[in-house]
Amino acid sequence: LSSRKPIVAIDGPAGAGKSTVARQVAQVLDLLYLDTGAMYRALTWLVLQSGLAVDDEPSIAELVSQCEIELSGQPTLMEKQATSISVSINGQDVTQEIRSLEVTSNVSAIAAQPIVRKELVRQQRRYGKNGGIVIDGRDIGTYVFPDAELKLFLTASVQERARRRQQDLKNQGKDEISLDELEQSIYDRDLKDSTRALAPLRQAEDAIEIQTDNLSIVEVVDWIVRLYRE
Ligand code: DC
Repeated sequence: LSSRKPIVAIDGPAGAGKSTVARQVAQVLDLLYLDTGAMYRALTWLVLQSGLAVDDEPSIAELVSQCEIELSGQPTLMEKQATSISVSINGQDVTQEIRSLEVTSNVSAIAAQPIVRKELVRQQRRYGKNGGIVIDGRDIGTYVFPDAELKLFLTASVQERARRRQQDLKNQGKDEISLDELEQSIYDRDLKDSTRALAPLRQAEDAIEIQTDNLSIVEVVDWIVRLYRE
């Protein structure tokens, strides 16, 4: 019926390595890449920047109806190293800012608001309507593109995800955060993301689960590329 190209949906809890993996899969298969978490993060940055309270739903609704989020820098095969895409909101580059602790700890509260999800999901569906794309998030296989051709659910234990996060921070030369604190923040975010009313974090029935505790990024990417080609 439609000539849409395949969609690869990658969902899973916080810090399971979805964006790194999704980006590299897109690179290898020459598909587009969409990081939906970055969209919720950019909006969260704007809400905080505007001095709004995170539970001020009417003002946030107004903000989201007028905001323009742009993701640029598609992964290409020419790149030696997968760097992250650039994210801007209303023309301002917030690529770095959206990874801050402040944004990370407030994003779940904002992503739970129905009007926010309605608008951002609309943008995501528009972006992916022709397919040929790898999309990562929490509700891609269950809600945004329930008919995606390939659905993956990436998981890892909370301990392993905290350990990886600590290593990332170290590599970036950022202040050290204890493993306990990191585990707590990952746990809190998963709880909020999986218990919200609208399109919560959930494994789609037809998604393939990949438990990554003992797998390298390359191994996970190869696995998904193989599944896609099959
Ligand atoms: O993947 P991430 O950590 O960058 O996502 C940030 C937050 O955005 C996550 O805690 C919940 C929200 N999110 C969402 O609700 N739905 C998505 N499809 C992607 C992210």
